[in-house]
Amino acid sequence: MIVAIDGPAGCGKSTVAKAVAKELGFYFLNTGSFYRAVTLAHIERGGDCHDKAACLETARSVSITVRDGDICLDGVDVEDRLHVPAVDMNASIVSSDPALRAVVTDMVRQVAGHMDIVTEGRDTTTVIFPDAQAKFYFDADLSVRAARRALQEGGGSDISEVERLIKARDENDKNKPVGALKAAPDAIIIDTSHLTIREVCEKVVSVVRSLQEGVHGEVIG
Ligand code: DC
Repeated sequence: MIVAIDGPAGCGKSTVAKAVAKELGFYFLNTGSFYRAVTLAHIERGGDCHDKAACLETARSVSITVRDGDICLDGVDVEDRLHVPAVDMNASIVSSDPALRAVVTDMVRQVAGHMDIVTEGRDTTTVIFPDAQAKFYFDADLSVRAARRALQEGGGSDISEVERLIKARDENDKNKPVGALKAAPDAIIIDTSHLTIREVCEKVVSVVRSLQEGVHGEVIG
């Protein structure tokens, strides 16, 4: 079974997807980490993130795998290097190229294989796994998302600056020619602004469990 969650930065999808995966015993797959890993590899090679052909070459030449939930680049665990500011800023640019997106989409599908997964990103419900059995789109007020991000960053960040960066990233992610951030027509939309992580998890898990029961019922019946 595939449970796919899309939404903008700071809407809570990573935290919830991880917790839901744990609760259901599913594999957690963060698709943004793949774009971040390609971006990191490109930066470390001294590449220009605006050079589409060079970024594509990097994407085609790296091996991205997942070990114990951590992203590995050519076999080396790089999970703790994926959230540095240079990667934050450039991943949105690098992920704008449709050709590069096709490469990453293939990588993600290969890693997912035939496992039961909870995955999250921007186009998991629309492009990567359009046939996912459970689809969600999370959203939250910009101010709430910025406050959450600032807290994740240790609480010392200037909220208005965090808000400005998130807004710029949202704009870019919503206007991509392919894989733009949008709600799939059959996605369940959850506004997480005033919900706790637990409450959002419960909603998702209850939808998945009812789907599992439905599937089970069909098999038996
Ligand atoms: O979710 P995140 O912030 O880790 O994602 C990093 C970047 O990758 C972000 O700018 C959006 C982009 N992304 C994407 O274009 N498609 C996805 N399925 C996941 C992430």
